[in-house]
Amino acid sequence: MKVNNKLTKLIKYYNLINHNLIFRESAINRYKKKDLKNETKNITQQLNNLERSISEIKNCSLKNYATKMVFSDGNPNSKIMIVGEGPGANEDKEGVPFVGRAGQLLDKMLKSIDLDRENVYITNVVNYRPPENRKPTDEEINRYLPFLEKHINIIKPKILLLLGSTALNAILGNEVVISKARGKWHEKKIGKTVISTIASFHPAFLMRQPEQKKLAWIDLKMIRQKMRDLGIKKIAF
Ligand code: URA
Repeated sequence: MKVNNKLTKLIKYYNLINHNLIFRESAINRYKKKDLKNETKNITQQLNNLERSISEIKNCSLKNYATKMVFSDGNPNSKIMIVGEGPGANEDKEGVPFVGRAGQLLDKMLKSIDLDRENVYITNVVNYRPPENRKPTDEEINRYLPFLEKHINIIKPKILLLLGSTALNAILGNEVVISKARGKWHEKKIGKTVISTIASFHPAFLMRQPEQKKLAWIDLKMIRQKMRDLGIKKIAF
């Protein structure tokens, strides 16, 4: 009887002091580890769904003219997302954004701050090539904007780079002009998150006006600094 009493007391005591934790030899890890594999699977699934929804868009004349849908390129786990205007002839042929001459310049710009397509994610405002490479109309932009916002919400970037006035106006509104909006950070709420957003000149514009490259370089350096400030590490595939 006495022994039983002692035992009960002992068990109560051990329960009280949570002896399981005390006798664990390894250090207690209080940080929840990110399940990157599952997260990636989830992002891929959401991106596939989004791509399907875009392919099912009805009554869009851009689709009738284009050869292929151009959805995205790069690393969906990246915290740096780049938005261009819309596919050109090369992109329309290959179904990948920024693969023509503007894309080659974009790659060089990224390289200048030690980035490449393995550690950024790239898409466009519209996913089909506008005829004769004209700018997308407001109606076309508005048609694709909910999909772009969804796209941004899936990727959840910490840095959003808007290349050229079409991307700038689609995301930050029509009141802003690229010459004034570039070179600054705009904290833009998209969905539930606030994203550090910066606009810069479109590489196609820089090919026509190379003297503006010095300003684009300032914007790129701001991105490099922001990556440091936010502790963004480059992620490769
Ligand atoms: N220009 C863009 O804006 N996007 C592309 O994908 C190619 C050229």
